[in-house]
Amino acid sequence: IKVGLVFGGRSGEHEVSIISAQAIAKGLTTPANPDRYELIPFYIDKNGAWLGAEIAASILKTGQPHPPSETPPPNFWNFPPQASEVDVWFPILHGPNGEDGTVQGLFKLVQKPWVGSGVAASAVGMDKILMKAVFAAAGLEQVAYLPVNRSQIWSDPCVYSHLCDHIESTLGYPCFVKPANLGSSVGIAKVKTRDQLTTALDNAASYDTRIIVEAGVVAREVECAVLGNDRPQASVIGEITYTSEFYDYETKYTDGRANLIIPADLPTEVIEKIQAMSITAFNAIGAAGLARLDFFYVEKTGEILINEVNTLPGFTALSMYPQLWEKTGLAFPDLVHQLVQLALE
Ligand code: ADP
Ligand code: DAL
Ligand code: MG
Repeated sequence: IKVGLVFGGRSGEHEVSIISAQAIAKGLTTPANPDRYELIPFYIDKNGAWLGAEIAASILKTGQPHPPSETPPPNFWNFPPQASEVDVWFPILHGPNGEDGTVQGLFKLVQKPWVGSGVAASAVGMDKILMKAVFAAAGLEQVAYLPVNRSQIWSDPCVYSHLCDHIESTLGYPCFVKPANLGSSVGIAKVKTRDQLTTALDNAASYDTRIIVEAGVVAREVECAVLGNDRPQASVIGEITYTSEFYDYETKYTDGRANLIIPADLPTEVIEKIQAMSITAFNAIGAAGLARLDFFYVEKTGEILINEVNTLPGFTALSMYPQLWEKTGLAFPDLVHQLVQLALE
């Protein structure tokens, strides 16, 4: 079976994607998956140009991004010729232009199976406003939040000031301002004053037309991995600890800033509730293959609030998703094998 592994991408998570792809490439071709898969790698550079197997393979070797093409890429419609040989696609693109239904739409158009969620589930999972509306409809508990449109921020000062009053009176401080469609904490700010609120809204508006503001909670951050299509299974629970103000970009990607504790030390009933909520959330957005569900556990009150879903979660050898499955009893090569098989179902 020829697996088209697509990585890199026009997203702030380009570098992580390369490391995820290195791990998956190794997992699919290790002796644990003897002669099962032939890998055809494809690299999308930071400007969106697709580069074929030769360059992609060398990037998998070195781990270094390729210098980006001109914008817009001259070969946008000229996919590398090897694309026609692919039996099943394995996109491991994080964030916009890959985790959001765009590349999934391409695979659907060329009528080839792919690993992971479809167009709608990917788009809903990426857009935090849509995601929260779907979670609310499924009865999942989450923090109080307000959706904001950029036009409210870029309109006259009176409208903007009303918006800020409304945020202050409904959510209070601290609150979190987030562009609706990013990842890896890019563009997210924790704000404690009116000044910080307007700065954060202005900044978020430079990333996205849709913005979400959430009430801040003091909670433990716990995550659960889900695998499957019609009968999705939940993994053991993992916890992330760190000493920074929140789990921001630097904490996520600087060695030693964050710790993963797997399995998390939690009461059995909390574990079971998180697993059940994970399956409910996975089904609510209509996910397929894989997703990582992230939660806030407010120890004081016992509340479990869903924070978000990642339909193409970080997949490096050290990432939460594969580690959760490892601790649940599914080794990395078996995990990637199952993912490809789920795509072919
Ligand atoms: P991303 O999709 O970029 O990962 P998240 O919504 O997960 O964005 O937010 C990133 C981090 O910000 C979280 O892991 C958490 O540390 C912090 N955070 C986000 N929202 C809240 C909130 N409402 N209360 C407390 N912390 C939050
Ligand atoms: N968006 C990053 C890669 C994650 O969810 O792990
Ligand atoms: Mg997150």
